[in-house]
Amino acid sequence: MKKLKKRSWAEPFKIKVVEPIKMTTQTQRAKAIKDAGYNTFLLKSDDVYIDLLTDSGTNAMSDNQWAGMMLGDEAYAGSKNFYHLWDNIKKYYGFPYFVPTHQGRAAEHMLSQIMIKPGDYIPGNMYFTTTKLHQELAGGTFVDVIIDEAHNAEKEHLFKGNFDIQKFKDLIKKAGAKKIAYVSMAGTVNMAGGQPFSMANLKQVKKITDKYGIRLWLDATRITENAYFIKKRERGYKSKSIGDIILEICSYFDGIWVSAKKDLMVNIGGFIATRDKKVYDAARNMVVVYEGLHTYGGLAGRDMEAMARGIEEMVLYDNIHARVGQVEYCGKRLEEFNIPMVKPFGGHAIFLDAKKFLPHIKQEEFPAQTLAAEIYLDSGVRGMERGIVSAGRDKKTGKNHHPKLELVRLTFPRRVYTQAHIDVTVESIVEVYQNRKSIKGLKMVYEPEYLRFFQGRFKKL
Ligand code: F0G
Repeated sequence: MKKLKKRSWAEPFKIKVVEPIKMTTQTQRAKAIKDAGYNTFLLKSDDVYIDLLTDSGTNAMSDNQWAGMMLGDEAYAGSKNFYHLWDNIKKYYGFPYFVPTHQGRAAEHMLSQIMIKPGDYIPGNMYFTTTKLHQELAGGTFVDVIIDEAHNAEKEHLFKGNFDIQKFKDLIKKAGAKKIAYVSMAGTVNMAGGQPFSMANLKQVKKITDKYGIRLWLDATRITENAYFIKKRERGYKSKSIGDIILEICSYFDGIWVSAKKDLMVNIGGFIATRDKKVYDAARNMVVVYEGLHTYGGLAGRDMEAMARGIEEMVLYDNIHARVGQVEYCGKRLEEFNIPMVKPFGGHAIFLDAKKFLPHIKQEEFPAQTLAAEIYLDSGVRGMERGIVSAGRDKKTGKNHHPKLELVRLTFPRRVYTQAHIDVTVESIVEVYQNRKSIKGLKMVYEPEYLRFFQGRFKKL
């Protein structure tokens, strides 16, 4: 008899409510993707079977979060949910001040306007689309100082989100510390494949920012996943709780901004949290112009309650273990079929390497955009492009950036899909891979000025 090697784990929750999804035919999908200009962002969600577009705002809330929604205090000013959320931000992130926003990019907008002067530089561990755009709109220039390994899909490295300390020092030397608005670190690094930084690397960065008096800020949108990888991969953290690791990470930063639509497992929300009273005062003042009063920031009281309760759940080990475990399960199954992917597998998504998947399609013909459309066509599984379309154009020369990573992201909403959904996804990708030689690229026929990947349109070559 075959012996069991080890006991497998399962999700620490069961399903109480279900939402039916539509099954479509290949003919229906062919029309839908053509109508959407071969851009998965422009598909109707009703035409999607398994939606792996993003983990942003697409998570399943717990019964406790839904119960909290009924306790929304919808006062214009001073809602009790705001105070509950504030208490939890102090307790779980360790910052005394906090300003709510309706989502992450609203926080990015305000922080960029407050902290960046035209001509400033903002170093960070690889760009994120909205973050960089807001930094540029404020007159700044984002400088990528992530380690080289992060730009190489197959290169195995436990902490691909790390800063390259030499690149960072070189920038300070070249630009001068005064010209650096702040350091914009992210954990995990979305565009690198959901890759973490290590605590040791963060401490090195902190040493330098302290030496030069540079402000250190964190995009803490997926900090729980980063903390999980530190616990699993870094010496000295095995027996620390996720909560303690998050608190230690935050202790090194002047402040954080967060899209709560990810780790906090809510459908909407964001915030800024900081120990810098000046930035806090400026943000608290600015939020009333763009978002709403500083005690709701574009959110309903019920949304803030769901966020407060989501924070309590995000630090639970079994929860994050199951979340990252599901991503890993998908990656390992794809690996059995030699599907080219970013390695190691990230925290929130599997990233297919479209350059290797479709080597006959030039980057100017959008291999990742093409691949995302082909997978949808095959099975109704929706992923997204993270390559040349997402990278946009150079703000000075107007030329396309040519990122080394040309990827399709299959992103897992938290607590939403089952292992059987993952199996179907894997089968579809394998089928597309087996038929890859007949796939043709795309040409762009409509290009919006900002964040073109959201609304750009394409035609089949
Ligand atoms: N920072 C990171 C690391 C993000 O992943 C996102 C959003 C934002 C900031 C902006 O937050 O969407 O609430 O305004 N990422 C989504 C994604 C859109 O699909 O990865 P937002």
